Amino acid sequence: MTTTRNSDTAPDADTSVLFVCLGNICRSPTAEGVFRAAVAQQEWGSRIRVDSAGTGDWHVGSPPDRRAIQAARRRGYDLTSLRARQVGASDFERFGWIVAMDRANLRALEALRPPQYAGHLGLFLDFAPDAGLDEVPDPYYGGLEGFDRVLDLVEVASAGLLERLRQRLSGQ
Ligand code: 4NP
Repeated sequence: MTTTRNSDTAPDADTSVLFVCLGNICRSPTAEGVFRAAVAQQEWGSRIRVDSAGTGDWHVGSPPDRRAIQAARRRGYDLTSLRARQVGASDFERFGWIVAMDRANLRALEALRPPQYAGHLGLFLDFAPDAGLDEVPDPYYGGLEGFDRVLDLVEVASAGLLERLRQRLSGQ
C-alpha cells in the first residue's frame, strides 16, 4: 500500500466519480449512465458515487439530448432521469475523481481546481489507452452515428476506470 492516498485528504476520494463535458447533455450523462451500469454489476458497487456536470450553463436543468437518450437506450442504458448541472468549485470537495471528456473542458476544470485538491483530475480516455483517441468527440452538431461513437469510447474507458477503482479499493 502506498503511503499517500487520496482518502487521507478528502472524503470519498477513492469512491466518488464526476464526469464532465461542456453541456452535460451528451457525453458526460452518457458516461454517467454507462459507468453507473458497470458499477451496479460489482458487489462493491454501492460504495461508488457517480455524477456528471457541464462546464457550461446553457442546458442546466435539461434532460440529456434525445439523441443521446436514444443511442443509450439501444444499448440498455436509461438516461432519462438525468438533469444537466454546471460544475462548481464545491465539486472538488465532493469528488475524488473528476474526469473530463476533452482538453478544453479539462482546462476549464484546471482553472476551477483549488490548490489543495488531492484527487484525480484528468481525461476520461486516459483509461482507454488503446482507443486511439484522447478526447471523446463532441457529437452535438453531428448525426446519430456520433452518439454511437461516444458510447463505444465511453464503454471502453468505463471498464478501464472501473478496474482502476477496483485496484484502489482493494489496496493494490
Ligand atoms: P456535451 O455536448 O458537451 O457532450 O453535452 C454539447 C452540448 C451542447 C452544446 C455543445 C456541446 N452547446 O453548444 O449547446
